[in-house]
Amino acid sequence: MKETVKIGYVGLGRRGMAMLRACFSQMPDVEIPIICDLYDDRLEEGCRVLKEAGKPAPVMTHDYDELVANQDIDAVVIMTGWHEHVEMAEKAMLAGKYTGVEVGCAFDLSECYRLIDVYEKTGSPLMMLENCCYGRDEMMALRLVREGLFGDVVHCDGGYHHNLPECELFLNMGKEPLHYRLASYISRNCEQYPTHELGPIAKLLGINRGNRMLTLSSFASKSGGLKQAARDILGEDSPYAKIDYRQGDIITTVITCAGGETIHLCLDTTLPRPYYSRNFTVRGTRGMYTEERHVVFLEGMQEPVENNLEEMHEKYDHPLHREYESHGTKGGHGGIDWLVSRAFVESVKNGTNTPIDAYDTVSWMAIGPLSEMSIARGGAPVDIPDFTRGKWINREPVVRSKYCLDEVCEDASVSIFPGEE
Ligand SMILES: NC(=O)c1ccc[n+]([C@@H]2O[C@H](COP(=O)([O-])OP(=O)(O)OC[C@H]3O[C@@H](n4cnc5c(N)ncnc54)[C@H](O)[C@@H]3O)[C@@H](O)[C@H]2O)c1
Repeated sequence: MKETVKIGYVGLGRRGMAMLRACFSQMPDVEIPIICDLYDDRLEEGCRVLKEAGKPAPVMTHDYDELVANQDIDAVVIMTGWHEHVEMAEKAMLAGKYTGVEVGCAFDLSECYRLIDVYEKTGSPLMMLENCCYGRDEMMALRLVREGLFGDVVHCDGGYHHNLPECELFLNMGKEPLHYRLASYISRNCEQYPTHELGPIAKLLGINRGNRMLTLSSFASKSGGLKQAARDILGEDSPYAKIDYRQGDIITTVITCAGGETIHLCLDTTLPRPYYSRNFTVRGTRGMYTEERHVVFLEGMQEPVENNLEEMHEKYDHPLHREYESHGTKGGHGGIDWLVSRAFVESVKNGTNTPIDAYDTVSWMAIGPLSEMSIARGGAPVDIPDFTRGKWINREPVVRSKYCLDEVCEDASVSIFPGEE
């Protein structure tokens, strides 16, 4: 087992800097000998964050190839926008590094095959850093499913309901290059951001482990929200107020699974709405969980049940969250950023596969191009490739680490906060 993990860190934009500041720089068992971004001020800021956290000043580079060639590092963490993910991940795996990549879809299915081919050739683990898989309620639902308390799970729902124009898409216009998401919304019409809900759903349905996604149908509403938002935020004369955006405002996707389950996803990011939601919902023959009403409903309960999460957390919290809560909170987004980062770091330390593995990563990344195809055909079902090439029927055993997302595992010998035991 490695005492210390050395990470090459690329992408010091909003997400990359936040994760560096709140998570990776705060870990006593992590060193970051090299950082990479296109901008000097971001590199300087990254260097300052690391030094303030008591870490040595890293090498700073604009050149990702230099980062990947660094012999010192065990792992690469990719925090750039979507366009760079595949090429960077491929290079990192070819260099034999553990590869962590932020959330986002591929643009074309061929990219998913490329990544799987490189993974199978090199054995370098590839993990999408999907923080929502480590959400308290998502992990509680995983436990309830594995303990059979929902009965047979038949359907799951989820969405990315987040009004993005003001807080993301049209932020810093003119001061920064075109936002990668806005660029994509201008040119494409698809489910562009499914993994915050699909990740936890895929894990609890055993996708790629005894189950798999078979077909997908996606439907797009017309596009009006972005143009309206551009007028309101940037003014009628802004060139962005004159664009006919390809991206529909509401994208509805239905996935069918080999186990007979259906998954309903919704991308809802360009119309006014008063609150953020992932609408995570699990429906089984004996019970359900719904994020929207903060309710777990189990056999023996009588309707109506309103917000009973305090009681349910008390009874059914996943052991990882029980431990996390006992320490107080740390890291962003209610702990999920910290937990997903620790999951990656612990895998590198132990030399094991990552809890979100290469097959999970590429099957989630494939939803973008698959939904684009389906929408272009009026919602016609498209086949979801089996990236495991048959291995989903009989996979190698799971790594039973405390960050495991396939089974509910406990390991008191590993602390969530190393150095604070
Ligand atoms: N998990 C979450 O909760 C969450 C939240 C927000 C964003 N994200 C994801 O994080 C990623 C980054 O998003 P962001 O909002 O920080 O984007 P951003 O545009 O603010 O930052 C991207 C950074 O990557 C750098 N970069 C781009 N190409 C590069 C290259 N070739 N070499 C070196 N550096 C390069 C840019 O200079 C920029 O600093 C995306 O995948 C996004 O989907 C995840």
